[in-house]
Amino acid sequence: MNERQTFQPSPETCSGAGVNDKAIYREAAADRETFWAGQAGQLDWFKPWEQVLDESNAPFYRWFAGGKLNAAYNCLDRHLKTERKTKAALIFEGEPGDQRVLTYQELYREVTKCANVLKSMGVRRGDRVAVYLPMIPELPVVMLACARIGAPHSVVFSGFGPGSLCDRINDCRAKLVVTADGGWRRGRITPLKDNCDEALAGCPSVEKVLLVRRTGKEVNFTAGRDYWYHDLMDGAPAACPCEQMDAGDDLFILYTSGPAGKPKGIVHSTGGYLTGVAATHRMVFDLRDDDVFWCTADIGWITGHSYAVYGPLANGCTSVLYEGGPDWPQPDRFWALIEKYGVNILYTVPTAIRSFMKWGTAWLENYDLSSLRLLGSVGEPINPETWLWYHQHVGGGRCPVVDTWWQTETGMILIAPLPGVTPLKPGSVTVPVPGVEAAVVDNAGNPVPPCGGGYLVLKTPWPAMLSTIYGDPDRYVAQYWSRFENAYFTGDGARWDEDGYFQVMGRVDDIINVGGHRLSTVEIESALAEHRTVAEAAVIGKSHKLKGQAVSAFVTLKEGFTGSPELAAELKTHVTRKIGALARPEDIFFTPEMPRTRSGKIMRRLLWEMAEGRVEADLDGPVAAARHGI
Ligand code: PRX
Repeated sequence: MNERQTFQPSPETCSGAGVNDKAIYREAAADRETFWAGQAGQLDWFKPWEQVLDESNAPFYRWFAGGKLNAAYNCLDRHLKTERKTKAALIFEGEPGDQRVLTYQELYREVTKCANVLKSMGVRRGDRVAVYLPMIPELPVVMLACARIGAPHSVVFSGFGPGSLCDRINDCRAKLVVTADGGWRRGRITPLKDNCDEALAGCPSVEKVLLVRRTGKEVNFTAGRDYWYHDLMDGAPAACPCEQMDAGDDLFILYTSGPAGKPKGIVHSTGGYLTGVAATHRMVFDLRDDDVFWCTADIGWITGHSYAVYGPLANGCTSVLYEGGPDWPQPDRFWALIEKYGVNILYTVPTAIRSFMKWGTAWLENYDLSSLRLLGSVGEPINPETWLWYHQHVGGGRCPVVDTWWQTETGMILIAPLPGVTPLKPGSVTVPVPGVEAAVVDNAGNPVPPCGGGYLVLKTPWPAMLSTIYGDPDRYVAQYWSRFENAYFTGDGARWDEDGYFQVMGRVDDIINVGGHRLSTVEIESALAEHRTVAEAAVIGKSHKLKGQAVSAFVTLKEGFTGSPELAAELKTHVTRKIGALARPEDIFFTPEMPRTRSGKIMRRLLWEMAEGRVEADLDGPVAAARHGI
């Protein structure tokens, strides 16, 4: 198969596709506001908006100003008036194989009860709730319960360690934390409650902890602070009215790594966010009424927020949640799930696909994957070889692959094909979705000619855009709206071709992307520098066959300490405890000194070349003394 090949939408894909006329691009570009207002009109509003886009205080754009709605109402209540009432909203499978299906009616009941539990614990409209849960149904239940009562949630990925949890809770001064006695991951229990207890020692804002029983593992229980979820749910009333939220009210905060280390609380507002995710979920995945949709991303990341919870539920579709690892108990778990639940749309990350390629096609052969109609990819560049493998072996050559580019900040997919109209090119995210304007520009902000490379920018606001950085509006302006005039800077490098198709190359700042997960090198450096033996640390992302990038750390030790495999192992564990296993360095290089420019800056490029093995490590020189890849 030719990797430069273009895939035209097949007749099967076009027939019945929600969007099968490419005029949609032209029409949306001619009047973006009318286009997005049309999408917003598919939600239920308590009060219509007065203005589609208020630009009076740009770049603090306000979408659907004056409108009132509730996200939980749109994801649940409104479906109960239709035949969706008895349809599966969530299909859950735990790693040990336990299953739970919640219909829209059942999910509604769980959410209203949970909303009353939150209220009984003192949570009021505007209070922030931190949620540190594994991929179990209680996670979306708590999110929607928060949305129902107007308390912004801040979900912290359950793979993060106590240090990251503590920072995130403190930044938004959460009043309540919801966690569990653990979650299952590759046969082991993640110690969520222990991590939470450790974090809470440094979190004065937290008054109470709501504890979900998942694994049955014994955990510490602090009377007066900790409450069992099931105890409170048992006695909670089921009726709970919705708060009428302004379109611009915060729906949630989600932390992500930003340049210069400290994680940023990305704030998403109710009306614009829900409009954007519901619309793109319908358009990009060509959603049909009876679709079973499976987004494999953890809800702790934006992909899970937008396309495992809010998008699918706002559209009344069935969303699959799976708790554990793709290779547990063996590397066919995904295929078994697809066959068992008749999944029609699979949305996953290239890292996972590269692992499946490595494990071999034999794992797929015994499964009936004919229910699949569409495949999606997100989070990192997908190279043509991986795209073609996905298309051929998972999609049987018949399912379009939609490669979707977006970010925590953008809230919704911004660059991706519409399967019924957009020809696909493996390795390209294709073109901006209707109503979105993107460009590749040079250093001065001028568009580069076709086939050139430069910075990826967004030229006009879009509904699900972040509204600010929590507690730091100046940083919002500085980081996104100051690098180029009148454009949002994505932090990504990209190229475009003669057809206007985009290819995203990766970050141009100090963010690295490990298996589709975004990490800041500065944050890892700070964690290392906190270790008693470390004088200085420099972290770079080196290429990795499966994960795209992996963490490599260069460390200078304090006087009196010497590098050893044992110390390297200790430092790796230290980073895992501080940030989480994702940030664990693959290699630690001990070096007596960092290589520097004349102005004193660390020469990261040289470190990167060394980590890649492109330049020889000079054992006596300042750049590397020993490599301890454990
Ligand atoms: O570098 C881009 C990469 O992931 C970054 C955003 O990371 P995060 O906020 O964690 O959100 C990930 C899921 C939406 C982007 O700046 N990225 C995301 N999708 C793609 C991608 N790179 C290439 N191709 C993609 N499809």
